[in-house]
Amino acid sequence: MKILVTGGLGYIGSHVTTLLLQNGMEVVVVDNLENTRIDVLDGIESITGKRPNFKQIDVCDSNQLKALFDEFSDIGGIIHFAAHKSVSESVNEPLKYYDNNLGGLQQLLKHALAKAVPFIFSSSCTVYGQSDTLPISENEPLKQATSPYGSTKKIGEQIIEDCCRANPDFNAILLRYFNPVGAHPSAKIGELPKGIPQNLVPYLTQTVKGIRPVLKVFGSSYNTPDGTCIRDYIHVMDLADAHIASLDYLLKNKNTSSCEVYNVGTGRGVSVLELIQTFEEATGEKVPYEFADPRPGDTVSAYADASKIEKIIGWKAKYSLEESLSSSWNWEKNLNS
Ligand code: UFG
Repeated sequence: MKILVTGGLGYIGSHVTTLLLQNGMEVVVVDNLENTRIDVLDGIESITGKRPNFKQIDVCDSNQLKALFDEFSDIGGIIHFAAHKSVSESVNEPLKYYDNNLGGLQQLLKHALAKAVPFIFSSSCTVYGQSDTLPISENEPLKQATSPYGSTKKIGEQIIEDCCRANPDFNAILLRYFNPVGAHPSAKIGELPKGIPQNLVPYLTQTVKGIRPVLKVFGSSYNTPDGTCIRDYIHVMDLADAHIASLDYLLKNKNTSSCEVYNVGTGRGVSVLELIQTFEEATGEKVPYEFADPRPGDTVSAYADASKIEKIIGWKAKYSLEESLSSSWNWEKNLNS
């Protein structure tokens, strides 16, 4: 049996592929290489000693996808990452996001449903918007998405739920990630942001490396203890491990027609200033930063109640914020841009 990982050379996908291989699974990676590099395969091979099957395919292309499922008829699990992920780009080019993120999902689901192949979907805490209660549990009512990117995650979840209702043999898990950070401890794979990073940690590490002059802290007078926004930063290795545990759970409960949603976070809320301070303590590096206007659309505070995934699937975050940020810095230092 093989596990299909779409977007398997991307940031989270490459870490999941690595863990799957280390767990003795056979992996088929599909990636159109739009937002990553082919040499990520070398990084995966150098960590695991194995090279996954690789196809440069766009999941929106139904012919290529059919050929893939014909060639690998023993795909017994699908972990779906392949999607666009820039919030700001999605605001400017909404159709690009609806076409790609929902088109690709539907093409894949046709095959997954036909053979009742267990399915894991990468969703996001963005579906909660600014939650009324903290920490945020899966029962929190979903708010109007604040970007087309967020809408594709929300609608994607609904499409999968409908598929599970329609086919009693099909089961799926929807993982709502909080803020993934960090890199593999070997520093052989990590995040490869395209252009100017939009997320805090890659912007911060590029600033410390001297690629960017100064980190702008968006907003200093939010209603939080130090005035800066609060997030739940989860090590990408922990996040990858949550996929392995979820896949294991789905395979053990095959053909049970369920669609369960789980938060994947640490449960700890950390402010932007706290993160900067922790980075400086963990790495000994100084972070040049200045305060700037709030970023439109930013949520003030979001951190997970991650008790459901611990209770049902038995997964819990293990890495500290210090370890996450040190690994981000080790990766950035070793990166030839
Ligand atoms: N921030 C800065 N300066 C920067 C970048 C970010 O101060 O240069 C701040 C933001 O204002 C925010 C925090 O750092 O308070 C985290 O920002 P990120 O952009 O790293 O992450 P977000 O929480 O805004 O977005 C992330 C994912 C999205 C997802 C969203 C869900 O990147 O894909 O979480 O809430 F939709």
